[in-house]
Amino acid sequence: MWFVRFLTSSIGKKLIMATTGLLLFLFLCTHLAGNATIFMGSDVFQGYADELHSHPLIVLVVSAILLLIFLAHIVVGLYLFYQNREESHSRYAVYDRVVKNSFASQTMPYTGALILIFLLVHITSFTFAPEDILISVTVRDRLSDFFYALFYIVSFIILAIHLSHGFWSMLQTFGLNHPRYNTLIARLTIAFPLFFLLIFGGIAFYFMTGLGASY
Ligand code: HEM
Repeated sequence: MWFVRFLTSSIGKKLIMATTGLLLFLFLCTHLAGNATIFMGSDVFQGYADELHSHPLIVLVVSAILLLIFLAHIVVGLYLFYQNREESHSRYAVYDRVVKNSFASQTMPYTGALILIFLLVHITSFTFAPEDILISVTVRDRLSDFFYALFYIVSFIILAIHLSHGFWSMLQTFGLNHPRYNTLIARLTIAFPLFFLLIFGGIAFYFMTGLGASY
């Protein structure tokens, strides 16, 4: 079938990476907005979490879709990584060196693997937290642990590095490459990851330093 042939082609796989990357990016934006309510006090954050959980079917469906998106992103990403590595051993590898020369682009599979480790720890701590304890209390208690919060901040730095290349790469795949907009695109690929780092990292810092002790 032409559709399967297209998806398994080189451009098809890049499109899968860009589309799943965009969806993960959108998830991250909503997750960031929801978690930023932490700065408005425990009642507001708890209210947001309760509202979310008052729609268990929606949460279940979104979680299942999210899991599939993550799996597709990881499997196709790994496939492209090994394919590129083999091609770079061939003598037709000049193109790769020109396009992918930054630290972020060369370390994508490694930063991706570290984000996966973060996610496993994170989901075990929060999604599968004991249900008789308020989620606002779980978040405060976990992140008040200095080393746990430090692990979060390091993970967010790694996430920012991964996003900086991922965002750029996604826009290239979608064809957003024009001399008029390239400066703006270059700025956005730095601004977005830094913004995520600032807010997510700020939450960890807030509890880690004791600023959120009375939370
Ligand atoms: C300090 C920053 C963060 C806080 C406080 C936080 C908080 C939470 C909480 C409380 C939950 C459980 C939601 C619930 O079931 O009630 C959750 C789930 C989750 N978080 Fe985070 N999060 C943070 C950063 C991140 C980052 C950076 C990522 C991605 C790289 C992420 C990915 C996820 C995922 C995938 C889930 C599971 C979603 C689901 O069950 O559908 N989180 N987070």
